[in-house]
Amino acid sequence: RSQLPLSGKKVVVTAGGTVERIDPVRYISNDSSGKMGFALAKAAHELGADVTLLAANTHLPLPAGIRVVHLESAQEMYDAVLAEWSVTDILVKAAAVADYRAKEVSDRKIKKSGETLTLELVKNIDILESLGKQKTKQLLIGFAAETNDLEKYAMDKLQRKNCDLLIANDVTREGAGFGTDTNLVNIYDTTGLIESLPLLSKEELGMRIMELAAARLPGAQE
Ligand code: PMT
Repeated sequence: RSQLPLSGKKVVVTAGGTVERIDPVRYISNDSSGKMGFALAKAAHELGADVTLLAANTHLPLPAGIRVVHLESAQEMYDAVLAEWSVTDILVKAAAVADYRAKEVSDRKIKKSGETLTLELVKNIDILESLGKQKTKQLLIGFAAETNDLEKYAMDKLQRKNCDLLIANDVTREGAGFGTDTNLVNIYDTTGLIESLPLLSKEELGMRIMELAAARLPGAQE
């Protein structure tokens, strides 16, 4: 394994959709299945990395040889990423993190009462943006799930969150985005579009992304 491109490297991958509790039996989440993140983690493992997979709300079979940490909320995901940060070489943020959470989490099941119910939401921390500000040696790979103006939003996220690579999927395209076994993405770096890939299985795409990341680690070209 010492010959492999990621041997001796620590890769942290986030996967799935965060769960933001409203009460003990209800929550806010999204359609992320975790497939993209699991495929990335498997690829990094095959390339020789020591991998930690931070998984929110997924029901996928656990990949062999990979440390999986199950968690729920954006805050828990942030804490888990931060705990690994100083030893991380590559962070891949494939998770769909909720932008907002309930301001109050009820410790009892909320009872049905009036005709309307107002839930107040407060902003979650942006994990990628925060880590982008704390970057030292780490290669940071973000995703962008968009329904329009893919390039504009992708480049905006790449710059604002200080990413090295940004994987953008147009989630309105057939076979792309949430829940599917395939994905259709464009890859950007700080110079702009670097790859426009055809429809690929998430497994194959995971390998392409991790190979690209390995080639961009400091010292990789030597
Ligand atoms: O899990 P699957 O079913 O396989 O689906 C895969 C996927 C569509 C979820 C995946 O390919 C994907 O696009 N993941 C990112 C989805 C997303 O939340 O995108 P965004 O544009 O809202 O966020 C941009 C980036 O910032 C993401 O890397 C996200 O992890 C990160 N982020 C967002 C909000 C937040 N509070 N903290 C973050 O770190």
